[in-house]
Amino acid sequence: MMNVDTITIYGGNGKDGVKEPVECFTMRVGDIVSIVGPTGCGKTTLINDIELFANHNTPSNRTVEINGATVPDDFIFDPSHHPIALISQHTNFLSDLPVEEFLTIHATVRGARDIETILRETLSFANELTGEAIQPDITMTELSGGQTRSLLIADAVVIGNAPIILLDEIENAGIHRTRALELLKKYRKIFVFVTHDPCIALMSDFRIVMRKGAMQQLIHTRPEEKKVAGKMKQIDDMMLDFRQIIRSGGELTQTVFDASYHVLTI
Ligand SMILES: Nc1ncnc2c1ncn2[C@@H]1O[C@H](COP(=O)(O)OP(=O)(O)OP(=O)(O)O)[C@@H](O)[C@H]1O
Ligand SMILES: [Mg+2]
Repeated sequence: MMNVDTITIYGGNGKDGVKEPVECFTMRVGDIVSIVGPTGCGKTTLINDIELFANHNTPSNRTVEINGATVPDDFIFDPSHHPIALISQHTNFLSDLPVEEFLTIHATVRGARDIETILRETLSFANELTGEAIQPDITMTELSGGQTRSLLIADAVVIGNAPIILLDEIENAGIHRTRALELLKKYRKIFVFVTHDPCIALMSDFRIVMRKGAMQQLIHTRPEEKKVAGKMKQIDDMMLDFRQIIRSGGELTQTVFDASYHVLTI
Protein backbone atom coordinates (compact mmCIF):
# COMPACT_ATOMS: atom_id res chain seq x y z
CA MET A 1 0.00 0.00 0.00
CA MET A 2 1.20 3.43 -0.95
CA ASN A 3 1.94 5.54 2.11
CA VAL A 4 -0.14 8.71 1.90
CA ASP A 5 0.56 11.72 4.10
CA THR A 6 -0.88 14.44 1.91
CA ILE A 7 -2.86 14.81 -1.26
CA THR A 8 -2.83 18.10 -3.16
CA ILE A 9 -5.25 19.18 -5.87
CA TYR A 10 -4.11 21.87 -8.31
CA GLY A 11 -6.92 23.80 -9.99
CA GLY A 12 -7.41 23.76 -13.74
CA ASN A 13 -10.43 25.28 -15.41
CA GLY A 14 -14.19 25.38 -14.90
CA LYS A 15 -16.86 24.41 -17.44
CA ASP A 16 -16.39 27.68 -19.35
CA GLY A 17 -12.66 27.06 -19.64
CA VAL A 18 -11.78 29.91 -17.27
CA LYS A 19 -9.09 29.32 -14.64
CA GLU A 20 -10.36 28.13 -11.27
CA PRO A 21 -10.20 30.71 -8.44
CA VAL A 22 -8.86 28.10 -5.95
CA GLU A 23 -5.35 27.43 -7.23
CA CYS A 24 -4.67 24.46 -4.97
CA PHE A 25 -5.52 22.80 -1.69
CA THR A 26 -3.89 20.09 0.40
CA MET A 27 -5.53 17.43 2.54
CA ARG A 28 -3.64 15.72 5.34
CA VAL A 29 -4.25 12.44 7.13
CA GLY A 30 -7.00 13.03 9.70
CA ASP A 31 -8.70 15.73 7.62
CA ILE A 32 -12.40 15.79 6.86
CA VAL A 33 -13.23 17.92 3.84
CA SER A 34 -16.56 18.77 2.22
CA ILE A 35 -17.33 19.70 -1.37
CA VAL A 36 -20.45 21.85 -1.63
CA GLY A 37 -22.38 23.64 -4.37
CA PRO A 38 -25.58 23.51 -6.44
CA THR A 39 -26.62 20.61 -8.66
CA GLY A 40 -24.46 20.27 -11.73
CA CYS A 41 -21.65 22.51 -10.40
CA GLY A 42 -18.97 19.83 -10.74
CA LYS A 43 -18.76 18.15 -7.32
CA THR A 44 -18.71 14.59 -8.67
CA THR A 45 -16.26 15.66 -11.37
CA LEU A 46 -13.87 16.95 -8.71
CA ILE A 47 -13.87 13.74 -6.67
CA ASN A 48 -13.54 11.70 -9.85
CA ASP A 49 -10.45 13.78 -10.71
CA ILE A 50 -9.06 12.95 -7.29
CA GLU A 51 -9.76 9.24 -7.70
CA LEU A 52 -8.16 9.20 -11.15
CA PHE A 53 -5.10 11.16 -9.99
CA ALA A 54 -5.88 13.61 -12.78
CA ASN A 55 -2.80 14.91 -14.51
CA HIS A 56 -3.94 17.39 -17.16
CA ASN A 57 -5.85 14.50 -18.74
CA THR A 58 -9.46 15.30 -17.72
CA PRO A 59 -11.81 18.09 -18.96
CA SER A 60 -10.99 20.18 -15.84
CA ASN A 61 -7.25 20.05 -16.54
CA ARG A 62 -6.58 19.52 -12.82
CA THR A 63 -3.50 17.85 -11.35
CA VAL A 64 -3.31 15.70 -8.25
CA GLU A 65 -0.17 15.10 -6.21
CA ILE A 66 0.43 12.53 -3.49
CA ASN A 67 3.03 13.49 -0.90
CA GLY A 68 4.05 16.40 -3.12
CA ALA A 69 4.65 14.41 -6.31
CA THR A 70 2.50 13.50 -9.30
CA VAL A 71 1.48 9.89 -9.69
CA PRO A 72 3.11 8.68 -12.92
CA ASP A 73 0.60 8.27 -15.79
CA ASP A 74 1.50 4.63 -16.20
CA PHE A 75 1.32 3.83 -12.52
CA ILE A 76 -1.00 0.83 -12.34
CA PHE A 77 -2.47 0.09 -8.97
CA ASP A 78 -3.30 -3.39 -7.94
CA PRO A 79 -7.01 -2.68 -7.22
CA SER A 80 -6.64 -3.99 -3.68
CA HIS A 81 -3.83 -1.48 -3.09
CA HIS A 82 -5.44 1.57 -4.65
CA PRO A 83 -5.06 4.30 -2.01
CA ILE A 84 -8.50 5.73 -2.75
CA ALA A 85 -11.91 4.22 -2.04
CA LEU A 86 -14.75 5.99 -3.86
CA ILE A 87 -18.30 5.43 -2.68
CA SER A 88 -20.30 6.80 -5.57
CA GLN A 89 -23.73 8.41 -5.81
CA HIS A 90 -25.35 5.34 -7.27
CA THR A 91 -24.26 2.03 -5.84
CA ASN A 92 -25.95 -1.30 -6.10
CA PHE A 93 -24.54 -4.65 -5.20
CA LEU A 94 -24.78 -7.30 -7.82
CA SER A 95 -23.60 -9.97 -5.45
CA ASP A 96 -26.01 -12.65 -4.33
CA LEU A 97 -23.72 -13.65 -1.47
CA PRO A 98 -24.84 -13.33 2.12
CA VAL A 99 -23.41 -10.22 3.81
CA GLU A 100 -21.26 -12.29 6.14
CA GLU A 101 -19.68 -14.25 3.32
CA PHE A 102 -19.04 -11.14 1.24
CA LEU A 103 -17.24 -9.46 4.13
CA THR A 104 -15.30 -12.63 4.94
CA ILE A 105 -14.01 -12.83 1.37
CA HIS A 106 -13.00 -9.18 1.41
CA ALA A 107 -11.29 -9.48 4.80
CA THR A 108 -9.46 -12.62 3.64
CA VAL A 109 -8.25 -10.93 0.45
CA ARG A 110 -6.98 -8.09 2.64
CA GLY A 111 -5.05 -10.59 4.74
CA ALA A 112 -6.95 -9.82 7.95
CA ARG A 113 -5.86 -12.03 10.82
CA ASP A 114 -8.87 -12.18 13.09
CA ILE A 115 -11.73 -12.40 10.58
CA GLU A 116 -14.41 -12.86 13.20
CA THR A 117 -13.47 -9.70 15.10
CA ILE A 118 -13.10 -7.58 11.99
CA LEU A 119 -16.49 -8.78 10.73
CA ARG A 120 -18.13 -7.91 14.02
CA GLU A 121 -16.53 -4.46 13.97
CA THR A 122 -17.63 -3.83 10.36
CA LEU A 123 -21.22 -4.87 10.99
CA SER A 124 -21.56 -2.94 14.21
CA PHE A 125 -20.07 0.14 12.49
CA ALA A 126 -22.57 -0.24 9.63
CA ASN A 127 -25.42 -0.73 12.09
CA GLU A 128 -24.48 2.48 13.91
CA LEU A 129 -25.02 4.30 10.63
CA THR A 130 -28.25 2.80 9.42
CA GLY A 131 -31.66 2.87 11.04
CA GLU A 132 -32.40 -0.74 10.12
CA ALA A 133 -29.90 -3.27 11.45
CA ILE A 134 -28.22 -5.51 8.87
CA GLN A 135 -28.64 -9.24 9.43
CA PRO A 136 -25.38 -11.02 8.52
CA ASP A 137 -27.17 -13.86 6.74
CA ILE A 138 -29.23 -11.84 4.25
CA THR A 139 -27.85 -11.47 0.74
CA MET A 140 -26.19 -8.28 -0.48
CA THR A 141 -28.92 -7.70 -3.07
CA GLU A 142 -31.55 -7.65 -0.33
CA LEU A 143 -29.99 -4.67 1.45
CA SER A 144 -31.88 -1.37 1.33
CA GLY A 145 -30.25 1.78 -0.08
CA GLY A 146 -29.33 3.04 3.39
CA GLN A 147 -28.01 -0.35 4.47
CA THR A 148 -25.95 -0.67 1.28
CA ARG A 149 -24.35 2.75 1.79
CA SER A 150 -23.69 2.02 5.47
CA LEU A 151 -22.11 -1.34 4.72
CA LEU A 152 -19.95 0.14 1.95
CA ILE A 153 -18.68 2.86 4.25
CA ALA A 154 -18.00 0.41 7.10
CA ASP A 155 -16.32 -2.00 4.69
CA ALA A 156 -14.11 0.73 3.22
CA VAL A 157 -13.14 2.08 6.64
CA VAL A 158 -12.73 -1.10 8.68
CA ILE A 159 -11.74 -3.80 6.18
CA GLY A 160 -10.35 -1.80 3.26
CA ASN A 161 -7.17 0.00 4.11
CA ALA A 162 -7.36 2.85 1.62
CA PRO A 163 -6.09 5.98 3.37
CA ILE A 164 -8.37 8.24 1.31
CA ILE A 165 -12.14 7.77 1.23
CA LEU A 166 -14.37 9.79 -1.08
CA LEU A 167 -18.12 9.78 -0.45
CA ASP A 168 -20.55 11.20 -2.96
CA GLU A 169 -23.71 12.41 -1.18
CA ILE A 170 -24.57 10.12 1.68
CA GLU A 171 -27.46 12.20 2.99
CA ASN A 172 -30.32 10.75 0.97
CA ALA A 173 -29.58 7.24 2.05
CA GLY A 174 -31.10 7.22 5.53
CA ILE A 175 -27.74 7.28 7.25
CA HIS A 176 -27.08 8.79 10.64
CA ARG A 177 -24.67 11.42 9.30
CA THR A 178 -23.41 13.13 12.40
CA ARG A 179 -22.79 9.82 14.13
CA ALA A 180 -21.00 8.61 11.00
CA LEU A 181 -18.66 11.59 11.16
CA GLU A 182 -17.92 11.09 14.82
CA LEU A 183 -17.08 7.43 14.18
CA LEU A 184 -14.99 8.24 11.13
CA LYS A 185 -12.88 10.77 13.03
CA LYS A 186 -11.42 7.91 15.07
CA TYR A 187 -9.76 6.49 11.95
CA ARG A 188 -6.58 8.12 10.65
CA LYS A 189 -7.70 8.74 7.10
CA ILE A 190 -8.65 11.53 4.73
CA PHE A 191 -12.42 11.76 4.21
CA VAL A 192 -13.93 13.83 1.41
CA PHE A 193 -17.69 14.34 1.43
CA VAL A 194 -19.75 15.68 -1.44
CA THR A 195 -22.63 17.12 0.48
CA HIS A 196 -25.64 19.41 0.62
CA ASP A 197 -25.79 18.94 4.37
CA PRO A 198 -24.85 21.87 6.65
CA CYS A 199 -24.00 19.51 9.53
CA ILE A 200 -21.45 17.60 7.52
CA ALA A 201 -20.05 20.81 6.00
CA LEU A 202 -19.53 22.41 9.42
CA MET A 203 -18.09 19.27 10.98
CA SER A 204 -15.41 19.33 8.27
CA ASP A 205 -12.04 21.02 8.66
CA PHE A 206 -12.67 22.99 5.51
CA ARG A 207 -15.00 23.03 2.53
CA ILE A 208 -14.58 23.72 -1.15
CA VAL A 209 -17.37 25.72 -2.75
CA MET A 210 -18.00 24.80 -6.40
CA ARG A 211 -19.75 26.78 -9.13
CA LYS A 212 -19.87 26.25 -12.91
CA GLY A 213 -17.42 23.38 -12.66
CA ALA A 214 -14.80 25.46 -10.84
CA MET A 215 -13.48 25.51 -7.26
CA GLN A 216 -14.56 29.01 -6.21
CA GLN A 217 -13.66 29.22 -2.56
CA LEU A 218 -11.97 27.36 0.26
CA ILE A 219 -13.59 28.04 3.62
CA HIS A 220 -11.96 26.89 6.86
CA THR A 221 -14.49 26.04 9.56
CA ARG A 222 -13.81 28.65 12.22
CA PRO A 223 -14.67 28.16 15.93
CA GLU A 224 -17.90 30.14 15.55
CA GLU A 225 -19.15 27.76 12.87
CA LYS A 226 -18.03 24.76 14.95
CA LYS A 227 -20.22 26.04 17.76
CA VAL A 228 -23.18 26.40 15.41
CA ALA A 229 -22.45 22.85 14.20
CA GLY A 230 -23.00 21.55 17.73
CA LYS A 231 -26.39 23.23 17.85
CA MET A 232 -27.32 22.01 14.41
CA LYS A 233 -26.45 18.49 15.47
CA GLN A 234 -29.12 18.71 18.16
CA ILE A 235 -31.71 19.76 15.57
CA ASP A 236 -30.52 16.96 13.33
CA ASP A 237 -30.86 14.37 16.08
CA MET A 238 -34.35 15.67 16.84
CA MET A 239 -35.36 15.35 13.18
CA LEU A 240 -33.99 11.79 13.16
CA ASP A 241 -36.12 10.97 16.21
CA PHE A 242 -39.21 12.37 14.45
CA ARG A 243 -38.32 10.39 11.38
CA GLN A 244 -38.07 7.22 13.42
CA ILE A 245 -41.49 7.88 14.95
CA ILE A 246 -43.06 8.33 11.50
CA ARG A 247 -41.27 5.29 10.09
CA SER A 248 -42.45 3.04 12.88
CA GLY A 249 -46.08 4.12 12.37
CA GLY A 250 -46.27 6.48 15.33
CA GLU A 251 -48.02 9.84 15.46
CA LEU A 252 -46.14 13.05 15.90
CA THR A 253 -48.51 14.82 18.28
CA GLN A 254 -47.91 18.22 19.86
CA THR A 255 -46.91 16.49 23.12
CA VAL A 256 -44.38 14.24 21.38
CA PHE A 257 -43.04 17.22 19.45
CA ASP A 258 -42.74 19.42 22.54
CA ALA A 259 -40.97 16.72 24.54
CA SER A 260 -38.15 16.64 21.97
CA TYR A 261 -38.23 20.32 21.13
CA HIS A 262 -37.97 21.43 24.74
CA VAL A 263 -34.77 19.52 25.39
CA LEU A 264 -32.99 21.51 22.72
CA THR A 265 -30.48 23.74 24.43
CA ILE A 266 -29.99 26.10 21.57
N1 LIG B 1 -14.16 21.64 -14.66
C1 LIG B 1 -14.98 21.13 -15.58
N2 LIG B 1 -14.67 21.18 -16.90
C2 LIG B 1 -15.49 20.67 -17.82
N3 LIG B 1 -16.67 20.06 -17.56
C3 LIG B 1 -17.05 19.98 -16.28
C4 LIG B 1 -16.23 20.50 -15.23
N4 LIG B 1 -16.85 20.27 -14.04
C5 LIG B 1 -18.01 19.63 -14.34
N5 LIG B 1 -18.15 19.47 -15.68
C6 LIG B 1 -19.29 18.82 -16.35
O1 LIG B 1 -20.49 19.34 -15.80
C7 LIG B 1 -21.47 18.34 -15.63
C8 LIG B 1 -22.00 18.30 -14.20
O2 LIG B 1 -20.94 17.99 -13.30
P1 LIG B 1 -21.08 17.01 -12.04
O3 LIG B 1 -21.86 15.80 -12.39
O4 LIG B 1 -19.71 16.83 -11.51
O5 LIG B 1 -21.96 17.93 -11.06
P2 LIG B 1 -22.45 17.64 -9.57
O6 LIG B 1 -22.15 18.86 -8.79
O7 LIG B 1 -21.90 16.35 -9.08
O8 LIG B 1 -24.02 17.51 -9.76
P3 LIG B 1 -25.11 16.75 -8.81
O9 LIG B 1 -25.32 17.67 -7.62
O10 LIG B 1 -26.33 16.69 -9.69
O11 LIG B 1 -24.57 15.41 -8.45
C9 LIG B 1 -20.80 17.04 -16.06
O12 LIG B 1 -21.23 16.73 -17.37
C10 LIG B 1 -19.33 17.34 -16.04
O13 LIG B 1 -18.62 16.59 -16.99
MG1 LIG C 1 -22.81 14.56 -8.41
